[in-house]
Amino acid sequence: MRKKLLLGNWKMNKTREETKVFALGSLALSALAELHGIDIGVAPAYLSLPVVKKYNPNLLVASQNVHYQPSGAYTGEISIAMLKEINITWAIIGHSERRTYDNETSERCNLKIKALLANEMTPVYCVGETLAQFEKSETKKVIKEQISAGFSEISSENAAKVVVAYEPVWSIGTGRNASSEIAQDVCSYIRGLLREKYGEVAEQIRILYGGSVKPENIKTYLSTADIDGALVGGASLSIESFKELINNMI
Ligand code: 13P
Repeated sequence: MRKKLLLGNWKMNKTREETKVFALGSLALSALAELHGIDIGVAPAYLSLPVVKKYNPNLLVASQNVHYQPSGAYTGEISIAMLKEINITWAIIGHSERRTYDNETSERCNLKIKALLANEMTPVYCVGETLAQFEKSETKKVIKEQISAGFSEISSENAAKVVVAYEPVWSIGTGRNASSEIAQDVCSYIRGLLREKYGEVAEQIRILYGGSVKPENIKTYLSTADIDGALVGGASLSIESFKELINNMI
């Protein structure tokens, strides 16, 4: 049985003070989620990572990115050792905003995924097609390339530890969420690709949907066969809405 997962991606939102307020407010939510066997967490900005850890040690905390090199002349980047030092063991890799604004490629994502796995950390690998690709019916072609490159040279033992997030770019922050049928179709396709490569191990890999997930629509995704949770942007920012997301997952 794959454990359900709700991960809030805060992007470039929340100061440390705002993070503290959220973390304290989420203490009861962690207890609720644990009671119902759901993993919940957030991916705040770098500066706020230790703030979440401090005020709610039970929330899973993910970095929004990491570099694959252990150290060096990479201005503005952050290393795995820096994350480990503050007990951060998860990182989002290949979010479409990083692919768009920072030229993140699936090949670079693969280097990051391998570096994280070598350090016993959990990558949340994001894949998804743009609107133009969706309209040209190229979704599966794009997904296949992203999955194939992202999982290159990764053993089945390690593959089981990766979380995949399917986020169609056209649904992110637009209010135009993919229907649960489309999302399930693509997530099932992703699991099929992983099954081709890893056999039964594919059944252990958690696959999330992301893109305009709200308390009103999260249930429809979670009731499908291959969607194991959600990666949520805007609706994860307020504690009230985060609570509603959890309530509607239960
Ligand atoms: P929204 O939920 O705001 O559409 O963002 C989705 C996302 O990009 C999560 O990583």
